[in-house]
Amino acid sequence: KERFKGRHLLSLHDFSPDEIAYILDLAGELKDRQKKNIPHPYLRGKMLGMIFQKSSTRTRVSFEVAMYQLGGSAMFLNVNDLQLGRGETIADTARVLSRYLDGIMIRTYSHADVEELARHATVPVINGLTDLLHPCQILADLLTVKERKGRLAGLKLAYVGDGNNVCHSLLFGCAKTGMHISVASPEGYKPKEEIVRLAEKDAEQTGSRIEILTSPVEAVSGADVVVTDVWASMGQEVEQSRRVRVFAPYQVNRQLTGHARPDYIFLHCLPAHRGEEVTDEIIDGPHSAVWDEAENRLHVQKAVLALLL
Ligand code: CP
Ligand code: NVA
Repeated sequence: KERFKGRHLLSLHDFSPDEIAYILDLAGELKDRQKKNIPHPYLRGKMLGMIFQKSSTRTRVSFEVAMYQLGGSAMFLNVNDLQLGRGETIADTARVLSRYLDGIMIRTYSHADVEELARHATVPVINGLTDLLHPCQILADLLTVKERKGRLAGLKLAYVGDGNNVCHSLLFGCAKTGMHISVASPEGYKPKEEIVRLAEKDAEQTGSRIEILTSPVEAVSGADVVVTDVWASMGQEVEQSRRVRVFAPYQVNRQLTGHARPDYIFLHCLPAHRGEEVTDEIIDGPHSAVWDEAENRLHVQKAVLALLL
């Protein structure tokens, strides 16, 4: 427990397999206590600032509720309402906010900006999504798989679609927990090689196998978990029409999931573009665990907040 205090959560790569297992265990415990209405005010009197430069439903609400349930509070800070939006530096913003707040969550475009914030903050910084990574989402995904399957190591997860922030964090999340991961993406949209290389290093410790493929059928074959995400992420709206053409063969539908294990589960971080990356039949179907997955954002983030703050 002591190992977490004061640390940032920018990437799952920065946490050991044991530490990730510990976060997931604590999340399960806090979820259980919340369901039984047993108070757990670990952060009484503490304040989290939440800087947003992109839209959010789940991240904003789940972090705010998380702080409330832990006995603290959260403050929503739109970048455009901060002096940051008028050119105050990230470093100065970090120094000042650290004098008021007990932790900072940030959702923005550039991952380097979040690293810069963390370098100059004297309180923990939590990555609430960058163009590169989405670690809190993948903690929720891992908790959901663990709940549904009773374990993580040795399962096969297939990610079908854009090699984006969610895909990158899944690579780390699987590599750290011993899940095998097969990614299927079209040429030009594969996950970044530097991320794959780092994940491969993590995988050496856990026996996780990583495959970067082009064929969605090959990736999904025998999968226990099938995951996808939007084809155009926030900030890529102008590429939408081109991406819809390129990614059409990567839709998660009944035909594709026919190659997964009969008891596979479907995950999607949401928001979904129904009819694009996934059909209604799959996201609303009996294999879908997306609502548990969304709920679990709350529980994993409570664990992270309780440990870091
Ligand atoms: N999955 C996720 O991060 O959702 P929001 O964009 O609504 O926060
Ligand atoms: N890849 C998506 C995830 C949204 C939660 C995006 O970055 O827009």
